[in-house]
Amino acid sequence: MPGNSEPMLSVTVNDHPRDFPVDPRSTLVDALRGRLGLTGTKKGCDRGECGACTVLVDGRRVLSCMTLALAVHGKEITTIEGLASDDGTLHPVQQSFLDKDAFQCGFCTPGQVMSAVACIAEGHATSTDEIKEWMSGNLCRCAAYVQIVEAVSEAAAEVEPPIR
Ligand code: FES
Ligand code: FES
Repeated sequence: MPGNSEPMLSVTVNDHPRDFPVDPRSTLVDALRGRLGLTGTKKGCDRGECGACTVLVDGRRVLSCMTLALAVHGKEITTIEGLASDDGTLHPVQQSFLDKDAFQCGFCTPGQVMSAVACIAEGHATSTDEIKEWMSGNLCRCAAYVQIVEAVSEAAAEVEPPIR
């Protein structure tokens, strides 16, 4: 479909307003990666099963492979690229993942981190069992689950909950 016949999508991505045409059939993950070059968000299964594509929409985690780009018109999107401060200081969840060595290949990590940020903000990170339950939508082929739970737990102690 030619670009000039595509509808315009207006969103705020990582605190920056963005307006760009999208194919009405495009998913959010494809728009972020293909149109905006934000390739930190990963596409794993592309069918809502792995969590690698997790981003925040108005502060809530969503699977961007299961979300049409046009469905987030007017909303605020946060991706892994938007977590660190402008001076490069990592978000506490990012720092905890480093400190706890909570990854191996790293493919699932952006989705894990975004989900963890929301999990903590939701107030769903008050115990190991709760973290396991509320992070269960994010799969890790390298099975770094023990370290991931430790990282979320450590970050939860530093981050202000909850948003609900
Ligand atoms: S790529 Fe979206 S859930 Fe797997
Ligand atoms: S670190 Fe490799 S898939 Fe999770």
